[in-house]
This record gives sequence, C-alpha cells and structure tokens, in this order.
Amino acid sequence: MPKRTLITSALPYANGPIHLGHLAGAYLPADFYTRYLRLKGEDVLHISGSDEHGVPITIAAEKEDISPQQVVDKFHIQNQSTFDRFGIDFDYYGRTSSKTHRETSQDFFNKLNEQGVFKKKTEEQLYDEDADMFLPDRYVKGTCPVCGHGEAYGDQCEKCGSSLSPTDLIDPVSAITGNKPITKKTEHWYLPLGNYQDWLEGWIESRNNWKANVTGQCKSWLNSGLSDRAVTRDLTWGVPVPLPEADGKVLYVWFDAPIGYISATKEWAEKQGDPDLWKTYWQDDDTRLIHFIGKDNIVFHCIMFPAILKQYGKYVLPDNVPANEFLNLEGRKLSTSKGWAVWLDDYMDDFEPDLLRYVLGSTLPETKDSDFSWKDFQVRVNSELADILGNFVYRTTSFTQRFFDGEVPAPDDLSDTDIAALAAINQQKELIQRAYDSFKFREAIAETMNLARTGNRYFTETEPWKTRKEEPQRCKNTLYVCTQICGALSLLFQPVMPKKMALLREQLGIPHQTPWEQINDHLVPAGHLVAEQEILFHKIEDDVVENEIQKLNDKSAAPTGKETNFPPLKKTTTFDDFMSLDLRAGKILKAEKVKKSKKLIQISVDMGFDKRTILSGIAEFFSPEEIIGKSVCVVANLAPKKMMGIESNGMILMGEDSENQLHFVETDAEPGSPIT
Ligand code: MF3
Ligand code: ZN
Repeated sequence: MPKRTLITSALPYANGPIHLGHLAGAYLPADFYTRYLRLKGEDVLHISGSDEHGVPITIAAEKEDISPQQVVDKFHIQNQSTFDRFGIDFDYYGRTSSKTHRETSQDFFNKLNEQGVFKKKTEEQLYDEDADMFLPDRYVKGTCPVCGHGEAYGDQCEKCGSSLSPTDLIDPVSAITGNKPITKKTEHWYLPLGNYQDWLEGWIESRNNWKANVTGQCKSWLNSGLSDRAVTRDLTWGVPVPLPEADGKVLYVWFDAPIGYISATKEWAEKQGDPDLWKTYWQDDDTRLIHFIGKDNIVFHCIMFPAILKQYGKYVLPDNVPANEFLNLEGRKLSTSKGWAVWLDDYMDDFEPDLLRYVLGSTLPETKDSDFSWKDFQVRVNSELADILGNFVYRTTSFTQRFFDGEVPAPDDLSDTDIAALAAINQQKELIQRAYDSFKFREAIAETMNLARTGNRYFTETEPWKTRKEEPQRCKNTLYVCTQICGALSLLFQPVMPKKMALLREQLGIPHQTPWEQINDHLVPAGHLVAEQEILFHKIEDDVVENEIQKLNDKSAAPTGKETNFPPLKKTTTFDDFMSLDLRAGKILKAEKVKKSKKLIQISVDMGFDKRTILSGIAEFFSPEEIIGKSVCVVANLAPKKMMGIESNGMILMGEDSENQLHFVETDAEPGSPIT
C-alpha cells in the first residue's frame, strides 16, 4: 500500500459559476474518493483551484466588458465558496494567477528550455490588424466546412461538433473586429511530444488498472502519432514566457494549468508551516497521484503533463486518471451559453447538498455519458433516500424509542434470519470497499443502498410489531440487528452524504472519528441510548420539481421545441445601474465608410447639445447614404473608444433579428431629448 495519496480535481476555469456538469465530471467522484480514504485513515491530500488563464477567461472578460483580472477575481471567490457550501473536501483551493504559480510554471519552462527540449518554430498565424493582435483559434469565426454553419469557431464547430483549425474555416473573420484577418509570422516554443511517443506507449501499457474509456482515448492519440505542441502564445493574459526574447508572449494555458496542482500543493505546505512538505506528495515514490477530470481533459493529463513531469525529472507520475464522460441534462447536451445548465448555487438555494450528492453519485457518467433529470432526482430522493434509507432508520429508531425507552435491546439466541442480516454488514462492506478502490462510485453507492434495502426487508419480515407481545426476545433481536445496520450505514454512506450521516451518528451515539476498519456488525452496544431525531429525508412534491423544470426552460435561450438564435438573457441588473446610462435622441447628419474597415461607418450625430462622431459596425447592413437623416437612440455617456485611429463617442442602439439583420431603434423626439 502506498504511504499517501495525492488527489487532484481539474482546476475549473474561473470564467463562470459551477454547474452539475462540473460536479459529475470531477469534483463529486474526487470528493467521494477523498472522504473514503480519510475514513480509512489514509494520508490523503485533495488539491484543486481556479484555472485563471487562457482564452476562456479573455472571452468572458470581453463579453462582460471587464478585465480578465476582474473575471477571475469574481469567479475564484464565488466558486471556492460554492464548493465549500456543497461540502467538497479540498485541502487547498489555489489559483493560477498566484506568484507561486507564476514562479513554478516559469521554472518548468526554464528547466525544459535549458535541457534543450523545445523546438523554436516560426509560423504564419492569423492576425487582426485593427485589434493589433494574433488571433487565438476561438477568436476566429467563419463558415464550417463540414456543415455550413455560419458561426463556427477556429477550433470547433458547435453545430456539428467537428474540431477545426482556423485555416479550415470558409471566409474567416476576427471575432473581435469582424475584419478579415491577415497572416503574419510569429515564433513559438514547441514541445516535441513525438519524442515521448515510445515512452508514453510503454507507460500507458503498464497502467493496467485504468478505465477503458481513458486508455482508449490515449491509445487513439498515440496511434495517430504525437506531433509538436506549441507551449507559448501571443497573448497579454497568462504567465509571461521567462525569456527576454519572448516579450509579449505567455505560456500556453495547458502548459501552466496542470502545474497549478503543484503550485497549490506548495501553497498548502506553506500554510502548514512546513514549506518543503509539498515534496513528499510530488517527489516521493510512495505517493499515489490520482487526477480526477472530465473526458475532454484526458490528453493533457495522460500525455502532455506526464511528458512534462517525466522530462523535468524527480516528479511522481499519475497512478490513475479516472476520467468521467459527460453529463447531459434532461436528455440534452448541457450548454452554459444556451443557459441549459443547473448551477450549483441555485440548486443549493432549494435543496440540501446531500440529496444531489446521492442522486448524481448514483448516475455518474463513469463509463458513458449519463443524464440528470429533475424527475429522476425526485424519484431517487423519494423512493430510495426517503422510502428505503430514511424509512429504515426511522422505523428502527422510533420503535426503539417507543417500546424500549430508546435503549438498544440486548440480543439473545439469534435466528438464522438475524444472523444473515447481521452478516450482510460485512459482506456489503467488502463490496463497497472493492467498488471504491476501483473508482466505481455508482456501484459503491448502489451496494450501500442495498444494505439499507436488506435492513428494511428484514424489519418487515421479522414483524417486530407482532413479536413484541408474543415473543419479546425475537423483537429485541430484530431491533438490535436493525440498529447495527443503521450504525454501519452511518459510516458506509459517509463519503456520499457527510452531513446526513453525521446526524445519524449523533442519533446513534457513534463517534464521528470511527475508522473504516472498525465498521462492523456490533457498532452500537446493547443498552446504548438512541436519541430522538427528525426524519432524515423528506419527500419532494411534484410541484417542486415542476418548478425546477420550469426555471430551466425559462432560463434557457432555446427551450425544448422552439430553437432561436437569440442569446440568453443577461444577469439581472439594478435600477440604479440602468439609470447610470444616459440615453438620448440624436439625428444622423453625415455618414461615411471607414477606410480599410469592412464593418465600420463613421457617423456624425446632432445631439442637440453637441455634435459628435460615432463609429458603428453596421457597414455590412446599411449604406452610408440610406442612414442620413434618421432619428436614433444614442448611449450618450459611453466612455470614448478609439478604433482605426478614430475616436468614437457613444453608441447607436440597434435591434438584431433572428436573421442577424440590424434595425435602428428610432425615435420621434428632437435631438438631445433624454430617453427614459
Ligand atoms: N480549466 C480546465 C477545464 O475546465 C481544466 C484544467 S485542469 C488542469 O477544462 F490540470 F489543467 F488544471
Ligand atoms: Zn459544423
């Protein structure tokens, strides 16, 4: 047995809140496993944190019109507190914008660079002249060559799912300015993954306890041959490449993010007052490193990161990467941009964490994609948690209260049925343990619930309400046995429902620190007092889940049935925020196309109190001539913005219809009139 286990959960991008898909992919299984090992008394450390670099962050920043730093500050704090509220048991939740992380990832880059590992290559990449920047794949839009979808991205078409490269797109345009990008030469550092091909093949071959979906994906990458991967990018947001000649370049987010596990462990050790302690988890062969991730992260954790660790030397390599498949929602692909998601904070406003931990844990996408539906949530809560587990506990404890003054009766002369029911405890414990050890959490949960089923059936079969009068000792035996099963359940279900099981242990008087080894068939001695307690699980009514389904449909931009292209509704704003905008009527006096720009028209507007210049990205929809004389609505107090060397002072409001056609918002009010 290894001395210690280091568990990592994928660092979620700090560009949005946590939803059920995140949970099902990595955090919930990681938490089950962490809590299981803690129960076993093992040395275990669970690390995660925010992934704060990369294009997902800069895109979120542009959408909300705030800085990347503001985006990550907001979601780092929010997500950490969501996880905490949900009971995800991290020892440390770091972030990749930290100083430790910058130093650690730069050290990795330097070390590999000194070892002469990287290839430097100059390549042509797409460049937006107006925005004055190289365009990451996600910043290029165009027509999908596979399905003809007009809004495909440079890395992927979200309509047909094809993965693309920007040069595949028909009529590519910059997502920032709408201009046609040019190609420009740029130099980057590449990790020649092909050099590790043989080693990786042998190593992955030797990992005989990995899940089939993980090994399968690795082999398919290996079979198609590994190629050079750029580890630097022309961006301003990220960890700067630590070389003087690399000014304006940052590390590729997938180079620095996994190193975030190491930086976070360093910060954890620092906090323990033992700064070198991280090394025992990362550089000692007695550590088992386990990465919990979703399937889209497999190549980075099973190929790229191990190659980097191996090349650096000294580091342990992942012992297992039990990646999960994806979670669907109500039979549809989960999509945050379409609003088709259940946010964890919203869930917790309405229900307790343990219900979802149980239900989602029972349907984890361990071997294939799985589905979460509110109906199934209700069914499992009502017919499993309430009717089986809750009912069994309630019957046992209330019977003991009522007829034995809360004292666990002493057993005597047990029947075969009693003995068989007691034996189920150790049998199930074996099965549950085996399931946890092989990362089969669904099975572990099902086998735990099976013990409650056995208990419930045994209670019914032995009919203590009858034997109480006729054969009191048999009644006592039943209650003794049932209490033992309840006791075992309060620990066996601990990894899945920590809050509920703590309540149950309190009721039964079982110490919270009881280790796994001591789970047995005599946890609650005869004579022990069982306290009164509220019922553990309440049933969920139909209207409650119907309300949740309604909320989902309301929030989603594309409710079932009718598909529209409109973006989802933005977050609620305050009246004050709205009132801080100064909207005015204005009259278009002059208009001309901006040279070298496909989109922009330079417009001179009479605002009544002044005349001003506004640039508007409408040249593809209107000719300058046809808009002269229009009375329009203007955001009059917008900070000036320079585009193509011209300063724009305000914005003209437009409606965009489902055909992406633009329409002016017109008004009869004279120029300068406030619009309120
Ligand atoms: N942020 C990535 C995602 O959400 C996961 C990063 S995992 C790490 O897909 F290893 F890179 F940290
Ligand atoms: Zn497509």
